[in-house]
Amino acid sequence: MSATTNVFITGATGYIGGAVLELLLEHPTSSSSQFTALVRSPEKAQKLEAIGVHAVVGSNSDLDKLEQLASESDVIFACADADDEPATKAILAGLKNHYKSTGTAPILIHTSGTGVLTDKAAGKYAYDTIYDDTDVEQLETLPDTQLHRNVDLLVIEADKQGYARTHIVLPSTIYALATGKLVQLGIQNPKSRQIPYLIRIGLKRGQGAILGEGKNRWPNVHIDDIASLYIVLYEAILAGKAGHGREGLYFGENGEHLLYDVSKAVAEALYELGKGRSPEPTMVTEEELKVDPRTIYLGTNSRCRASRARALGWKPKYTTKDLLASIKPEVEAILKE
Ligand SMILES: NC(=O)c1ccc[n+]([C@@H]2O[C@H](COP(=O)([O-])OP(=O)(O)OC[C@H]3O[C@@H](n4cnc5c(N)ncnc54)[C@H](OP(=O)(O)O)[C@@H]3O)[C@@H](O)[C@H]2O)c1
Repeated sequence: MSATTNVFITGATGYIGGAVLELLLEHPTSSSSQFTALVRSPEKAQKLEAIGVHAVVGSNSDLDKLEQLASESDVIFACADADDEPATKAILAGLKNHYKSTGTAPILIHTSGTGVLTDKAAGKYAYDTIYDDTDVEQLETLPDTQLHRNVDLLVIEADKQGYARTHIVLPSTIYALATGKLVQLGIQNPKSRQIPYLIRIGLKRGQGAILGEGKNRWPNVHIDDIASLYIVLYEAILAGKAGHGREGLYFGENGEHLLYDVSKAVAEALYELGKGRSPEPTMVTEEELKVDPRTIYLGTNSRCRASRARALGWKPKYTTKDLLASIKPEVEAILKE
């Protein structure tokens, strides 16, 4: 690597990417790093430039641009889209060019998700298998057809071929409103995905929803804790201590919730705020599922342990209790939209 480390980040305006970029900007390595972000919004690009991030306007569909930016990078944080196979291929092609021209394998930290562990429970049961990210053989039993897995396998293969050192962060249900500097500057999306989605369904039907009986389980992690996981991992990579390739999958969780408890907390918050008919969630109907088939995802299981990041010294602070407490403020924030 040259004296300046070229760090490229995708999804910098997003919930995860913004939180990660904020910590990177505050990190001791920032004085010797040049940060570049690929962003779709010219207004946000200007705001990023103002805080010292070189912002290129473009999208993940601009594959040539993506490949070029990747080829100029020593380190990439890919935080935009876990399922964008063409974009990932362009990033990997760029990293290969980088390797060919410098002889040094660049670093990729790709964002996937514990959606890779999901089943078809439809809220009827919790499965017993708990995936541990230090158990490589167990992870390799995951069918290639699982969500995110097509992209994850490309990333792992790049490491096997030796032209990049790859690491995959698999966040679980990330929760809580992001509140940092990039949110205040109007750069970063402050809201997560799963719980806001459940809240929006509830607001639309005037009643908190539940998929099946809500007996399924998911792991969870606070936005600040998942952002710190990327930093702990980055520091370990720089120190040569982090597993990579097939030994480089890092779950992000600090506890598990029963989907019933989350649905119940949403229903209660909606009820208390005059937006729900009852504090008890009601089942999503077949008709509702036909209108929005994605809702079935709320009935899946995903169970894991983040052993690998903990072994690197990651110490998440927030627990499932904090997740449940985050729901009412999240409903209030969505009502203000
Ligand atoms: N939030 C969670 O709980 C969670 C958990 C596990 C995994 N994940 C995965 O992590 C990824 C990021 O999630 P997030 O919660 O941070 O989502 P988000 O807040 O919607 O952020 C996505 C970011 O990627 C950018 N982006 C998306 N598609 C793009 C494209 N085609 N070209 C350029 N930029 C693009 C967005 O830019 P704009 O600002 O222009 O939209 C934004 O910066 C997703 O794949 C998600 O499935 C999320």
